[in-house]
Amino acid sequence: MNRAAERKSGNDVEEMLIDQDELVEKIIALKKERKAVILTHNYQRPEVQDIGDFVGDSLGLAQKAAETEAEVIVFCGVHFMAETASILNPHKIILLPDIEAGCPMADMVDPAALREERRRHPEAAVVAYVNTTAAVKAESDYCCTSANAVEVVKAVPQDEIIFVPDGNLARYVASKIKDKKIIPWRGFCHVHQGITAEDISEARKSHPQAEVITHPECTAEVIAMADHVRSTSGMVQAAVSSQASEFIVATEAGMLHPLSKAVPGKNFFAPARQPCCPNMKLVTLSKVLRSLETLEPRVQVPEEIRVKALKAVERMLELGRPAQ
Ligand code: 13P
Ligand code: SF4
Repeated sequence: MNRAAERKSGNDVEEMLIDQDELVEKIIALKKERKAVILTHNYQRPEVQDIGDFVGDSLGLAQKAAETEAEVIVFCGVHFMAETASILNPHKIILLPDIEAGCPMADMVDPAALREERRRHPEAAVVAYVNTTAAVKAESDYCCTSANAVEVVKAVPQDEIIFVPDGNLARYVASKIKDKKIIPWRGFCHVHQGITAEDISEARKSHPQAEVITHPECTAEVIAMADHVRSTSGMVQAAVSSQASEFIVATEAGMLHPLSKAVPGKNFFAPARQPCCPNMKLVTLSKVLRSLETLEPRVQVPEEIRVKALKAVERMLELGRPAQ
């Protein structure tokens, strides 16, 4: 078991011993006092999603972070998401209730390696997936999320694009855009990479009528089995507009909670082996309360990196969410 997985299971036990209703009451009261907003990713623990003022995908969360008037943002997600909020809000307090909640994929590219790749492809633009550090965003021309990666790459004037860090997402984008050369980085999300075609086939045996929804961080083999390929919040839209009433959802299993809440008349199933991102599960109600009490741990991107990274993030927000 790695460190995040070990800490996650320790947290699971701790949380069971605490009165959750009391925690929720305290969080709501203190949030008001601190003039705070709670932004929560779709993969968070169900009880953490339920206290969010907004629950969504990376794009929706960045949009909310850009427009909020709150003085404090409690980011229930992982480090790069809190950094994006900091890039957009240099004067606000950005709290990440567990400072060790990172994204292993975001750490698969660093500024020096990216600069080296640029030297190898001097004509290419760099598109950074939002799952990158602020320092990598500062070295990039554009930023995108899974909700608008295809549209961002289409809008880039250059014909050659270095896409970091997710190789699966880069290949998915390349499959949609034939007139540009996409140079994929060698990164991957271990959670989505771990979902196999056999996991989907196995789930299909129990739910033969179900449509398959995958995240574009999945492998090409799994994406080829999909009826819908969407960002996490895009999955909700797909489930609402589809005629189907059952879905196999190939992404982190936390996603079953917002889907079941938003589309209560339909049924959602994880692939055969439930995919879990232990980092996403590090944030607990107790840690949210503690962060509001202490106004720690904070994430603040250093100003010289922030101003450089802002350009790429603003371009991502300008393009926004494409109509499905
Ligand atoms: P989205 O919610 O933007 O689709 O991203 C998924 C993800 O893996 C975030 O870490
Ligand atoms: Fe990173 Fe994958 Fe976890 Fe998302 S699910 S935070 S991409 S490791």
